[in-house]
Amino acid sequence: MPTLLTARVSAAAHIALPHANPLSVQQVADMISFIAHAKPITALDVGCGPGALTIALATKCSARVLGIDISEPFLERAKLASMGLAMLGNADFMNASPLSLRNETFDAILCVGSSQAIGTPIEALSWCGDRLSPGGLLLFADLTWRRRPEPRFIEFLGVEESLYWSEDHEVSVFADAGLRVLQIERASPQAWKAYEDAVFEGSQRFAARLDPEEGAHVLARANAWKTAFDAYGANCLGFTAYLATQTGGGGGK
Ligand SMILES: C[S@@+](CC[C@H](N)C(=O)[O-])C[C@H]1O[C@@H](n2cnc3c(N)ncnc32)[C@H](O)[C@@H]1O
Repeated sequence: MPTLLTARVSAAAHIALPHANPLSVQQVADMISFIAHAKPITALDVGCGPGALTIALATKCSARVLGIDISEPFLERAKLASMGLAMLGNADFMNASPLSLRNETFDAILCVGSSQAIGTPIEALSWCGDRLSPGGLLLFADLTWRRRPEPRFIEFLGVEESLYWSEDHEVSVFADAGLRVLQIERASPQAWKAYEDAVFEGSQRFAARLDPEEGAHVLARANAWKTAFDAYGANCLGFTAYLATQTGGGGGK
């Protein structure tokens, strides 16, 4: 699917959702409050999507929060949502890829469901760890394995099983990146099912507005993911969020 259409589908599919990940609003609010409490001055939200996390952090503390994404439809929604809001800090949104940023550091980094903006989840973790100011806080979230996946699901995803870590290895993966996990939040199966249902319905609504050929393509992809997620993904995938800080020992890089 062309990149622009992918971005439009994703933004449209999430239109009725507060953020583009399967965590609950409460889980996100709690983790953002934790970071706000540390009073960061600068923060980066990698792959900010609709901007909910950038805005929440800038609302709760006096940080300058930069949300970056390469999806214009998501960035438009983020800018609109932040307009006129009373914030303790400020939220800026920019069309940029993290790898194009100068080599600066941030007191807080959010990377929620956005590893692909950097590389594999392990590469993204290392990148984020390298850009944290001393004592800074990282909110990192991505897919994880709750159980070993069926080979057919791996084939469907077209990835190596090792792309995602298993929950048994999560603390050591962070330690290898020089990070100490402070808190873990997992998307509940119910919240994730509700999220998937809403994304599927959003994709269907968007497909109905496209020309028939494009619409059929979007619908086929949405159906294929729904079938695979219901049959396999729901049994083995997790979506896990980690609050972490540097170990102070320089890590294992
Ligand atoms: C699953 S969404 C998560 C959005 C947001 N963090 C949230 O939780 O609501 C992943 C986001 O990463 C963005 N993304 C993908 N590749 C990117 C890149 N190279 N640079 C910046 N953002 C990227 C996508 O456009 C999308 O908005």
